[in-house]
Amino acid sequence: MLDAAAHLKAGDLVAFPTETVYGLGADASNSKAVSRIYSVKGRPNDHPLIVHIASMDRMGDWARDVPEYAIALARSFWPGPMTLILKRSELAGDFITGGQDSVGVRVPDHVVALALLEAFERSGGKGVAAPSANRFGHVSPTTAAAVIEELGGYLSKDDLVLDGGACDVGVESTIIGCTGASPSMLRPGAISVEMIEECTGLKTTHSNNEIRVSGALENHYAPIAKVLLCEVPIAGQGFIALATIETPEGVIRLASPSDNEEFARILYSALRDADARGLLEVVVVQPIGIGIAVAIRDRLARAAKGR
Ligand code: TXA
Ligand code: MG
Repeated sequence: MLDAAAHLKAGDLVAFPTETVYGLGADASNSKAVSRIYSVKGRPNDHPLIVHIASMDRMGDWARDVPEYAIALARSFWPGPMTLILKRSELAGDFITGGQDSVGVRVPDHVVALALLEAFERSGGKGVAAPSANRFGHVSPTTAAAVIEELGGYLSKDDLVLDGGACDVGVESTIIGCTGASPSMLRPGAISVEMIEECTGLKTTHSNNEIRVSGALENHYAPIAKVLLCEVPIAGQGFIALATIETPEGVIRLASPSDNEEFARILYSALRDADARGLLEVVVVQPIGIGIAVAIRDRLARAAKGR
């Protein structure tokens, strides 16, 4: 891990696993390294990045005036699938925040990610900027092989891809706005509104901060295949649904998760599988209910808008 941290220090990119999806990391205080993230992803420059740190003790490096409810959230859910949007410190440059007054911070819950972040901090680093390791608008990668498939053609020989197996959660972190009097939900994920409200004792608002959260663009998280919701699959189409739902004759079953957690975990690899098989259309039966199902429906609605 020392070697990977040295690559980050040298300004190279290091793709690494987290519990949500794989990230494409760069030294968050090195503007040149960060600018390579944008070119490798093909992402517009004004979309802000999440800074990953090894523990909440480092939050103060990147943020100021952290409200009490944000500290409560950090204590309860970090390391974990949650990003807090906080007022930025001086360290959080425009090249991280897209010129905004706020910065996204997260402590991921994955042994490889934490080992990398700790080694990086021991070598004097402050934090690792990392978006999901996919080309802009595509499906996030949940395996190292998917990272290489997405970005292999764009990385340099000194960049690294760390393999930590398949991601446990499978959809990106919950993003919570923490710059106002109460938390606001910017992107649903495994940490649900119910969990946030239970933890903070505050009502969560729903922001329509749509420009700045690129994941909130309507067409995002999309495979090449057309994603169809609310339809009965016909022969030749791909199909993703809970295991209790049967596969009609001639339909290509891509995944049969047994619960919503497994649904989130396998969703992106199943969509990638549809593309690998050259399918034109995939029908998905959306999971119902609250919790992670909200995040799954959010991503599916965006995937269904196409590329
Ligand atoms: O689970 C995750 O969050 C993964 C892993 C790698 O940590 N990362 C991830 O990053 O999904 P990315 O860049 O693909 O999505 C992060 C979203 C973007 O839509 C970005 O616009 C938003 O977070 N974001 C980052 N900083 C922000 C800020 N200061 N204000 C509003 N939105 C922000
Ligand atoms: Mg992304």
